[in-house]
Amino acid sequence: MVVTLREITDRNREAVLALRVAPGQERFVSSVRGAIREAAEYPHAKPWYRAVYAGDEPVGFVMLSWNVEPQPPEIIGPWFLWKLLIDQRHQGRGYGFEVVRQIAELVRSEGATELLTSYVPENGGPAGFYERLGFAPTGELDPDGEVIMRLVLPPWRQSASPPSSE
Ligand SMILES: CC(C)(COP(=O)(O)OP(=O)(O)OC[C@H]1O[C@@H](n2cnc3c(N)ncnc32)[C@H](O)[C@@H]1OP(=O)(O)O)[C@@H](O)C(=O)NCCC(=O)NCCS
Repeated sequence: MVVTLREITDRNREAVLALRVAPGQERFVSSVRGAIREAAEYPHAKPWYRAVYAGDEPVGFVMLSWNVEPQPPEIIGPWFLWKLLIDQRHQGRGYGFEVVRQIAELVRSEGATELLTSYVPENGGPAGFYERLGFAPTGELDPDGEVIMRLVLPPWRQSASPPSSE
């Protein structure tokens, strides 16, 4: 299944707002509606968000701080994976992994050398998910006690032009 990141518009907003994590996972991430509200409340955190699609079906939501000036401890950056959720019916199929892979490539192409995130350190949380992706704890906690993690990104190089036929 092809995973894409799409803008939220009047055409898909209701379907994206209807996405839900499993009961018990709400303590790890806000709802899509809550995330979009936070984005409006904290414009200085440079929110950037997209719906996650598998084929033509919305399956999740992702939000970053996009090249923000870090103002610790409140604003972590410059590139901070702020929200990630995959609807409970679609979890465990590799979509979350693919979203983070695409986000890492996207920010790398913008010059990012690391992608940061944070997670609630409780059982059933996403620590293992992020570790599998290569994130490691920075040793810092955010003001809410969330563990801050970093994924180091290799430097971006324009892909070489295709070999000429001559
Ligand atoms: C965490 C989340 C985004 C993962 O998305 P997903 O599509 O279910 O994950 P994937 O199918 O891509 O899993 C990728 C790998 O991570 C592993 N994994 C997934 N969730 C995990 C978890 N909570 N703990 C440990 N490993 C996990 C999978 O087993 C898989 O490993 P494998 O390839 O070795 O089998 C999703 O479960 C979710 O939305 N959870 C609730 C909200 C949340 O915690 N968001 C993150 C904090 S903002």
